[in-house]
Amino acid sequence: MTNVGIIGMGSYLPEKVMTNHDFEKILDTSDEWITEMTGIKERRFAEDNIDTSDMAVIAAKRAMENSGVTKDDIDMIIVATSTPDHHFPTVANIVQSKLELNHVPSFDQAAACTGFIYGLATAYNYIKAGTYKKVLVIGADKLSKKIDFDDQSTAILFGDGASAAIVGEVSEGYGIKSFELGSNGDGGKWLYDDKDTKYIKMNGREVFKFAVRIMGELSVSVTEKADMTSEDIDMLIPHQANIRIMESARKRMNLPREKMSETIQLYGNTSAASIPISIEHEVKHNKIKDGDNIVLVGFGGGLTWGAVCMTWGK
Ligand code: UT7
Repeated sequence: MTNVGIIGMGSYLPEKVMTNHDFEKILDTSDEWITEMTGIKERRFAEDNIDTSDMAVIAAKRAMENSGVTKDDIDMIIVATSTPDHHFPTVANIVQSKLELNHVPSFDQAAACTGFIYGLATAYNYIKAGTYKKVLVIGADKLSKKIDFDDQSTAILFGDGASAAIVGEVSEGYGIKSFELGSNGDGGKWLYDDKDTKYIKMNGREVFKFAVRIMGELSVSVTEKADMTSEDIDMLIPHQANIRIMESARKRMNLPREKMSETIQLYGNTSAASIPISIEHEVKHNKIKDGDNIVLVGFGGGLTWGAVCMTWGK
């Protein structure tokens, strides 16, 4: 039986830090309000000359270096993004070219903030089927180019970043044990990019209610599907949308706070990049170790949702 998991990762976060205090200078807001309502303290914004593909390329390069994978090993490229440089060529096409990878299939997959989970599940199935051996899955978003800086409730939420995973065959006992994906287009009206202004529009209250319900339900169901209980889970990695939403999922799973990944304070909501950035962060800080069971869970515009339960290691 083929076991499929993540064999290496790499991330890129822009250097420019935008703190809550910086927002106090341009918006009617305060560090206290943002911290209390979202958990965010600061986020990174890419410079004008850095687009989504530039971040994706650096993250992918780092993932390949960290996993010892060469150009010839990559059989397919999937980029989860809702802020591509262009609709075509896709970010994945640009990554293929800039990293001089073979002429393998490359495409963008849009599922907003759930994109990385969708990408991981897609790669899993291609590898399970025996079609490909190694798939480069990247979550990359430059949300700062979609922010309406006059909208106090959305402007403060988002940040830019990218993170990449090499998905491939792993040893017995490791890898993805279960996943779940879903969508409901009826909720599209609550979170979308406006056709005219190109800015993100959001009904924060509705998205919040939906997210609290789905994140808890999904965390539990994907764990059960893997024949595990919350006691088996070493780390919950929720989409970093809002600390209160993340906390509701953690409590539903009965996990102590140290078993939940929190990078939201540093990076805000980086959309499709948020979950892989968090995994990479925890692995780097030795919080996720070989053999740990982890649950990834996310939701996003669409509305979309998804979760993965996996055993870390290769
Ligand atoms: O991946 C994308 C997923 N999106 C999310 O996860 C968003 C989920 N939703 C949320 O996190 C919350 O809706 C927010 C934190 C974004 C906003 O909280 P809210 O309680 O839904 O705020 P609201 O927009 O309904 O506004 C409530 C009050 C208003 O004041 P009044 O009219 O009650 O006096 C706003 O003016 O909060 C005020 N407000 C702010 N005050 C200071 C809204 N944004 C801000 C702000 N600073 N940035």
